[in-house]
Amino acid sequence: MKTVKDIDVKDKNILVRVDYNVPLKNGKITDDLRIRESFPTIDYLLKNGAKRIILLSHLGRPEGKENPDYSLRPIVKVLENNYKKDKIGFYPLPKDNQSIPIPENVKITLLENLRFDPGEEDNSPKFIRNIIAATKADIYVQDGFAVVHRAHASTYAVKQYLPVYAGLLVEKEVKNLTKAIDNPKKPVLVIIGGSKIEDKAPLIEKFLPIADKIIVGGKIAADGYKPDDKKIYVAEDFDEDVSGNKLDVGPLSTAKIADAIGEANTIIWNGLLGYAEDPAFATSSIITAEIIGAKPDATTIICGGDTTGFVENLVKTHQKLKYSLISTGGGAALEFLLGKKLPGLIVIER
Ligand code: 3PG
Repeated sequence: MKTVKDIDVKDKNILVRVDYNVPLKNGKITDDLRIRESFPTIDYLLKNGAKRIILLSHLGRPEGKENPDYSLRPIVKVLENNYKKDKIGFYPLPKDNQSIPIPENVKITLLENLRFDPGEEDNSPKFIRNIIAATKADIYVQDGFAVVHRAHASTYAVKQYLPVYAGLLVEKEVKNLTKAIDNPKKPVLVIIGGSKIEDKAPLIEKFLPIADKIIVGGKIAADGYKPDDKKIYVAEDFDEDVSGNKLDVGPLSTAKIADAIGEANTIIWNGLLGYAEDPAFATSSIITAEIIGAKPDATTIICGGDTTGFVENLVKTHQKLKYSLISTGGGAALEFLLGKKLPGLIVIER
């Protein structure tokens, strides 16, 4: 994959597809991992003399209609806080033959939610061509790893008009996720939690030939999942609430998880082990996160929206915890691990 490091970005107008599809509560961003993870590419482009950076993203599923609830405006503040010296531009999507009057001194611009136009999800060449023309873009950078499993105008059709290069986040995600499936350093441990076995079964199946051990916790284990392979260990004891609901993996199974982590050189964790929203049932997930985060020499991958959010929060107070990758890609990371061909990666120059 060619990345921004393989091209000359000096004096160029550069469209950067990011994924700012972040959780919002009453207009406030509750997890900014995806935004922070876009900064290395923006910093790299600024440092190497890019003339203008125009950021493209979607937020939520507004179904092709303008809807203030899904506006990217709250992101502008986060960009302003990080790029204090720079003025941040924010513009609506251009209509046919419209140009965007970005002033000379504005280096970083964000366009409004791509999904306000049906052309984005319809993979419409005309829609992305309008954006390229309106911004006078010379180069296209794909850095929205979390959206590369979608064949949309800004991830796929764009290839017809501009060469596409990977940003540093896409490079980091692909490199680390590849390490987990392509000749991983053994022993390989996969820890699966969450609530729906039908969502996790493909991951278990994919990793059976790769992993040395697969541990299943979460509601899947509490609901009595029965494995059909000796490699799979299902949590056996649980912490319960007053009504007897099994809401967290208990101490005996947590100790077994800790031992397995201690032995592993590659660890992939997807899905919380208990109902961790409630601190009373977060213990097994906290211990798991802490032990994984204390293995800097192992390849350690955290994926899945709930799990990454949880680990991110822990890292804020326990800065010593280190992971190879806290993936920004929910569905995209899963599809990548399952070995699927992802449209947004296929179009990147080799
Ligand atoms: C995600 O959050 O998984 C990505 O931003 C993709 O969003 P989507 O599932 O609405 O396409």
